[in-house]
Amino acid sequence: MAIGSGESVTENPPIVSNPCRSPLFPDSGTEGTFPTHPHTQVIFRNMRIAISTGGGDAPGLNAVIRAAVLSARTRGWDVLGIKRGFAGLLGEDEIVPLTTDSVRGIAGQGGTIIKTTNRGSPFAYPIQKPDGTWTHIDRSDELVENARNLGIEAIISIGGDGSLKIAQQLAAKGVRVVSVPKTIDNDVAGTITTFGFDTAVNTAMEAIDKLHTTAESHDRVMVLEVMGREAGFIALHAGVAGTADVILIPEIEWELDKVCEKIMQRDASGKRFSIVVVAEGSKPKGGNESIIGASLPGQDRRLGGIAERLGYDIQRVTGKETRSMVLGHLQRGGSPTGYDRLLATRFGAAAVQAVADKKWGQMVALQSPHLVTIPIDEVLRETKRVDPKHDIVQTARMIGISFGD
Ligand code: F6P
Repeated sequence: MAIGSGESVTENPPIVSNPCRSPLFPDSGTEGTFPTHPHTQVIFRNMRIAISTGGGDAPGLNAVIRAAVLSARTRGWDVLGIKRGFAGLLGEDEIVPLTTDSVRGIAGQGGTIIKTTNRGSPFAYPIQKPDGTWTHIDRSDELVENARNLGIEAIISIGGDGSLKIAQQLAAKGVRVVSVPKTIDNDVAGTITTFGFDTAVNTAMEAIDKLHTTAESHDRVMVLEVMGREAGFIALHAGVAGTADVILIPEIEWELDKVCEKIMQRDASGKRFSIVVVAEGSKPKGGNESIIGASLPGQDRRLGGIAERLGYDIQRVTGKETRSMVLGHLQRGGSPTGYDRLLATRFGAAAVQAVADKKWGQMVALQSPHLVTIPIDEVLRETKRVDPKHDIVQTARMIGISFGD
């Protein structure tokens, strides 16, 4: 089952061929809401696509949206923005037109103009029962019906593994969907990197630079916790670029004694300060990951708190004054780097091309030097983590960085 009929080409079609008279738009929905491109209508089949951004935001999302909208408009297609993940198609938020005007000047802006959420897969939507407890229901049929009523013929879903899973399930229902990988964690398989990662690495690296001066002034150990969930890419890349002394990642189990040994070796050689970068999902040998707070219904578990635990232990074992800090959501904010803007722009345009080529159920990916599309099923079969044998890990070891192992 595909969304919408998608076959109409008329000589002078209104861009809004299916006026928005679904329950989402009870009183509105006149034709011709969107700008038309009369000269392209004859060449290109009129088409209506929708864009969704899901999961945690990442710098570059707006650049993807902009590129997708501009590429689609060049083809004479209409574009709708589904607000807050798929909530807009479930009557929980809006559906908005995305025009060349809506995307003007947003390439360098962090966040996403159509908002996002990491709660509420349409296939397991959290609802509160009368007794106050929560359960999950499948609302995907409702989503498909609403999309059809809006004349949406294809969806570009921008997101990480959670959104890819939703896209895979939608594709299995016959929805025409193309995905764009997004995450600062860089843990999506099939693509060399995701946009947002470079910006997050730069933010973490700048933090490490700043911690150096204060650590050195006080002869302290500074422990910096960075994001990444179960993947250590941000810690590894930022740690090496920022010249940390110890990098602790989920892929390499570490021991407190080894971490402290490195710090004391530095101390003995006259370097009385040390910088430890720890990935939020890392854990000591035989220990557990550190979980912070409670997750809301429909949300993944929240990792965090490892830096504080580790800082306390380092001070206890070494006797050296130690401070810890969590960089947190600063890594998700701010303007995307040039690299991320460019990659995001390439992904946005490639997603529209993938729609034109009917690459349903596929994800655009960077397999340098090319952009490719690969089946989402394949992407989700693999788990992307730091390879402890990777040259960046080896480089780090060769220049004396400890992984605490
Ligand atoms: O997946 C991106 C990410 O920023 C992770 O690195 C982090 O663990 C998580 O999202 C934080 O999510 P939230 O926005 O729910 O705190």
